[in-house]
Amino acid sequence: MAKARSVYCCTECGTQHAQLLGRCTGCGSWESLVEEPVAGTGAAETAPGNLLGERPAPGASVGAGSKAAIPLQAVDADAAPRVPSGIPELDRVLGGGLVPGSVVLLGGEPGIGKSTLCLQLASAIAASGDPLLYVTGEESLEQVRLRAGRLGDVPAGLLALAETRVESLAGPWREAAPRAVLIDSIQTMHTDRIESAPGSVAQVRESAALLSATAKANGTALILVGHVTKEGTLAGPRVLEHLVDVVLTFEGDRGHPFRMLRASKNRYGSTQEVGVFTMGEKGLIAVENPSELFLAERRVGAPGSCIVPTMEGSRPMLLEVQALLAPAGYGTARRTCLGIDDQRVALLLAVLDRRSNVDLLSQDVYVNVTGGVRVSEPASDLAVALAMVSSRLDIPVPGDVAACGEIGLGGELRRVGRIEHRIREAERLGFRRVLVPAGAAGMIGSATAIGIDNVAEAVEWLSTPGNAV
Ligand code: TYD
Ligand code: MG
Repeated sequence: MAKARSVYCCTECGTQHAQLLGRCTGCGSWESLVEEPVAGTGAAETAPGNLLGERPAPGASVGAGSKAAIPLQAVDADAAPRVPSGIPELDRVLGGGLVPGSVVLLGGEPGIGKSTLCLQLASAIAASGDPLLYVTGEESLEQVRLRAGRLGDVPAGLLALAETRVESLAGPWREAAPRAVLIDSIQTMHTDRIESAPGSVAQVRESAALLSATAKANGTALILVGHVTKEGTLAGPRVLEHLVDVVLTFEGDRGHPFRMLRASKNRYGSTQEVGVFTMGEKGLIAVENPSELFLAERRVGAPGSCIVPTMEGSRPMLLEVQALLAPAGYGTARRTCLGIDDQRVALLLAVLDRRSNVDLLSQDVYVNVTGGVRVSEPASDLAVALAMVSSRLDIPVPGDVAACGEIGLGGELRRVGRIEHRIREAERLGFRRVLVPAGAAGMIGSATAIGIDNVAEAVEWLSTPGNAV
């Protein structure tokens, strides 16, 4: 019974279903399934292939198509030296540069600066003498040239191509033998191998598979730019994420110049490091000292603000948490949080209400982390709590005080990792006192770490007039 088979593919997450459902069981989005022919028919899925024609891997073949196992010890880990990207903040996130034959997926919301970063990266690599191929599927070459000119000198080794058909890249790729190929963006690419419409999940997947197989076979570093859907996931994430070696996400608030680059997957390095940039007239500029930048506009002595030393990977970073509390009108009190999880703020409000004598639940609460940055560390709990209490009681947190510590449901302060690093960073920026969980009290450099046992004690510390100086 030969019947043309098809699957139903979710356009949001890429999950395949055998039948048409109203709701994707993979990501829960409604009416996102589209019918697509089974990809197996073109043998594309089993053999991703190499655009530039097959080349046998050196010394690999023993008998018919099988490889010999070798001792892992004998494998040379440094056989493929990394290519420095020329952007130290990017190298930090990548774990030391681009690995030849690796595939990097760079995701982010539209307008966040992905193309700008790619172009700067392309210029930097090309300027160091390595040929580089920049493929644009979204912008015309004139647009790319204009932007590249604005960002700085355009090196001779930077080759650009406006193309959306994957097969058409074979010629330029072979001719230029680039060290790296940048595809901006993978969603605009399509391949002749399958019949689905351009932009469909199947096309994105097949194009990415074909490109990455080519990159791996030729030792070229490949960077794929991917758009993020409004739900915050990369279009077709499951398919693309397991296909690539490194997943980088470019984050930030478009209203602010700060941009953070994080790795959510990295086969060649840590996923802990972040790169910090500011977007300016001349493109992205690396920020060496993020703390100074984030604190530049702080108003010392205003109630409702508290500084927290957070850790981003191995790097401490001081951020300002602001809170504004105002009596709620009728009905449910409002909770509006920017840059911090509102569930966490709700939890802290409940703990403060029960475990200290400040009444907060009758208030509308607005919490904001300045600079458009997001904090997700529980270590910021104490600073958030202090900012809220400070606003409620109209008592400013003293200008030389920072605070960090996780708050438990019993109101107790819990230890956080790397406390010494955090205190040192605070000290470096002129903070003389840091409120910390009780166990971590002491002197670090010229800063005093003041031990706090629970939220009631923190409120009391803030309300004691003697502590204001
Ligand atoms: P872009 O790199 O096109 O974003 P994406 O590729 O992620 O969609 O960046 C677009 C924004 O960046 C745009 O709104 C203008 C701003 N921008 C600057 O502020 N300075 C610059 O030098 C450049 C090139 C862009
Ligand atoms: Mg772009």
